[in-house]
Amino acid sequence: MLNFDFHNPTRILFGKGRIADLAKAVPATARVLILYGGGSVRSNGVLAQVQAALQGRVVQEFGGIEPNPTYETLMQAVEQVRREKLDFLLAVGGGSVIDGTKFVAAAVNFEDDPWKIMEKRGGNVISALPFGSVLTLPATGSEMNNGGVITRKALKAKMPFSSKYVFPQFSVLDPTTTFTLPPRQVGNGVVDAFVHVMEQYLTYPANAPLQDRFAEGLLQTLIEEGPKALAEPLDYDVRANIMWCATLALNGLVGAGVPQDWATHMVGHELTALHGLDHAQTLAIILPSMLAVRKEAKRAKLLQYASRIWNISEGDDNQRIEAAIGKTRTFFEHMGVKTRLSDYGLNATHIDPLLAQLEAHRMVTLGEHRDVTVAISREVLEASL
Ligand code: NZQ
Ligand code: ZN
Repeated sequence: MLNFDFHNPTRILFGKGRIADLAKAVPATARVLILYGGGSVRSNGVLAQVQAALQGRVVQEFGGIEPNPTYETLMQAVEQVRREKLDFLLAVGGGSVIDGTKFVAAAVNFEDDPWKIMEKRGGNVISALPFGSVLTLPATGSEMNNGGVITRKALKAKMPFSSKYVFPQFSVLDPTTTFTLPPRQVGNGVVDAFVHVMEQYLTYPANAPLQDRFAEGLLQTLIEEGPKALAEPLDYDVRANIMWCATLALNGLVGAGVPQDWATHMVGHELTALHGLDHAQTLAIILPSMLAVRKEAKRAKLLQYASRIWNISEGDDNQRIEAAIGKTRTFFEHMGVKTRLSDYGLNATHIDPLLAQLEAHRMVTLGEHRDVTVAISREVLEASL
C-alpha cells in the first residue's frame, strides 16, 4: 500500500427532512449567500425548504450557475459577496453549483487575479470562505471532497483545482431532492460515480485488498441500483443508495493508498470544453477505449474486474478483458448514456483540436504511470469514434 494522508472534515446530514437542519448547521450570525443553478431548485421546492430553514437570517441569493460552471458567471457572485460583505456560502444544487461555490469561496479573499487559482490548480489558495451544500444530484462527489472544475468560456478551457480549504463544512443529502431529476441526469450521475471508482481502482495491484473491495462494493451497488432509479424514479431507498455511493466514490476513501489514473477525466474535460457534452457523456465515450488501449499495463486489475464485477470466467485473458470492457459499455448505454463520439455528431476531424487542447493544458503525461502521452490519447480518441 502507498503512503497516504486522509482527512475529510465534511459533516454529512443524510436522509429525508434533513434540509430543516440547516437551521443548526449554518452559524446563527452568518451573512449567507445561497448559490444555485438554472432554476430546478425553485421549481421542485428545494429552495423554499432552504429559505424556510434560514428564516430570520441575513440571506441573499445568486442564481444562474450553469452546468460546467463558468468563471465569467462566478465572478459576479464574487462581486456580490465582496459588495454585500457576506461571509458564508450555501450551494444548493448539483456538482456544478457546489464546484462553483468552492471557486467563489476561494476567490473572494484571493489577493491576485482569481483565474490564477485555476492556473495553479488551487495550489496558491491560502484561505476560503466557509460554506455548506444541499446536494440535489448524486454524481460528482463534490459534496464531500475538496475539488472543483471551472470553465473559462472566453478561453474554451475547463480546468480542475483542489485545495484543503474548499471542503464543504457540511452537506445535506436528502434523497427526496433527487426525485425530480430527468432520466438523462440520473444516467449521468451513475456513470460519473462509476468512473470515479474506476479511476482509483482500475490501475495496477498495490496490495490494498480493502480499498479494492470498497471499490468493488460501490461498482456492484451502482450496477444493481442504477437501472432501478430509471425504472422506479420515486423509490426512496434506490435514490438513497445511489446518493451515498456517489458521495463515497470520490471522498478520498477508495483512493487512499492506491495509484490513481484520471486520464479518462482529463481527456473528457476537453470534449466538454470544445463541444459542450455533459461530463458523464465524455466519460462513457472515453473509458471503454482508454481501458482497451492500455490493457497491457492494466491487465491484472482488468482480470480482477472481469471476474469480481462481471463474473466472467470463460475464455482466455484477452477474451475476458474484452468481455468486461464490453459489459461496461453496455451498462453505460443501459443507463441511457451513449458511448461513441459518433453518437454525439463527432468524427475523426474533431480529434486534432482535442489533442491540441490537451497539449495547451499540459495534459501530456496522464495516468497512473504518467505514460498517457498525446499519442496515446490520439489512439484512445480514434478507438472511441
Ligand atoms: O441548473 P439547474 O436548473 O439546477 O438544473 C441542473 C442542471 O441542468 C439539473 N438538476 C440538478 N439537480 C436537479 C436537477 N434537475 C431536476 N431535479 C434536480 N434535483 O441537472 C443539470 C446538471 O447539473 P450539474 O450540477 O451540472 O451536474 P453534475 O452534478 O453532474 O455536475 C457536473 C459538473 O461537476 C464537475 C463536472 O466536470 C461538471 O462541471 N465535476 C466535479 C467533480 C468534483 N468536484 O469532484 C468531479 C467530477 O469528475 C466532475 O468533473
Ligand atoms: Zn467525474
